[in-house]
Amino acid sequence: MSKAVNVGIIGFGTVGSGTARILLQNGALIERRTGIKINLKKIADLDIDRTRGVAIPQGVLTTDAYELINDPEIDIVVELIGGIEPAKRFMLDALKQGKHVVTANKALLATHGTEIFEEAQARQKNIGFEAAVAGGIPIIRVMREGLAANNIMSIYGIINGTSNYILTRMTREGAPFDAVLQDAQRLGYAEADPTFDIEGIDTAHKLTLLASLSYGIPLSFDKVYKEGITGITPEDIAYASELGYKIKLLAIAKVIDSAIELRVHPTMLPEDNLISKVDDVLNAVYVVGDAVGETMYYGRGAGDMPTGSAVVSDIIDIAGSVGCRYRQFLQAGSDGYKIKDISDIETMYYFRFTVLDKPGVLSKISGVLGTHNISISAVIQKERREGEAVPLVVLTHRAKERDILNAVKEIDQLQQVVAAKTKFIRVEGKEYN
Ligand code: HSE
Repeated sequence: MSKAVNVGIIGFGTVGSGTARILLQNGALIERRTGIKINLKKIADLDIDRTRGVAIPQGVLTTDAYELINDPEIDIVVELIGGIEPAKRFMLDALKQGKHVVTANKALLATHGTEIFEEAQARQKNIGFEAAVAGGIPIIRVMREGLAANNIMSIYGIINGTSNYILTRMTREGAPFDAVLQDAQRLGYAEADPTFDIEGIDTAHKLTLLASLSYGIPLSFDKVYKEGITGITPEDIAYASELGYKIKLLAIAKVIDSAIELRVHPTMLPEDNLISKVDDVLNAVYVVGDAVGETMYYGRGAGDMPTGSAVVSDIIDIAGSVGCRYRQFLQAGSDGYKIKDISDIETMYYFRFTVLDKPGVLSKISGVLGTHNISISAVIQKERREGEAVPLVVLTHRAKERDILNAVKEIDQLQQVVAAKTKFIRVEGKEYN
């Protein structure tokens, strides 16, 4: 006989309607496969009149979230309104009422998750958040179960579809950032506040969750280095391409000498790298484990049905384990990892200096780089405008970020050499020869 669970959804927006549609359309299939009958008992939203293209049975819709939070028959509350409040209050109150919680709310979990997970732990309840990272890609389950046997060596993720879409179009068309951002907003890809997408904040929320799960460290959003894509120009993209690279906004977590690097920034990656080929709004997460080696997961990171697919997978998982399988999430086995300050990282760098076109300039710049232990692997100067400002592109071998920052500071003060602030982009992958 099937086991029945009652579910209530708070938030009937894009993901809420996708979740409802999947439960109504695929409920029989899910029951056959899992032996779990999921009853969609209530959906709460302030607007219950607008049509969402999904036929909700009578009596299910309500404008009062507490109708489901206080309903003793509801086992799982699904929070899909996003943002911090009232989502946080709804979640905590649902846990206090003895419900399990499923959510897609990466911003809330990354910044207030400690309190929420502690409440869940105290009440022996589950929090499902598969939908919070990379939408339809089941990356949380991969990290929690599929790769549970591994020490995770590194994670590289394209986990914000909006910024990937913007960079893809800038690359294909040479289009400027602002114009493509407007298109992304018109197409509904960007978050309510596009700053979260383009400044790397949404990516950092997701990286915070992935890193905590993978390394057993506390949720460390404040310690993630965050740099968005607003400073990337078609010119940088063209130079990167000439050198055989693509520019992607990456979430990076990697362990080096018992410390973790957690960083989000535009990154130059060799064009033949698999993750360089992930374009448009698609997401991908590349994970290296010490036992499994390289793995990669690819799919849709947003949208009603892909994200709904992740939400329903959590409902099924929790329903199958109600009362018997609490999984500890926080600090599950930290090996005492420290999180590195960004100035302690080491990688390759692309510089775009704006220099005066005259003899001796390159030697002054390479001299400063040399005194800071930075070795050059390629130089491009295409334009020739004697005595005027021209771009000078330099690619380095592996160098320390602290040395890079010191060198840039010194170079930017060179009179009669540089004409504008120097720009740099971190480069991952094999060193350029
Ligand atoms: N704005 C997000 C993105 C949606 O662009 O990926 C899903 O988190």
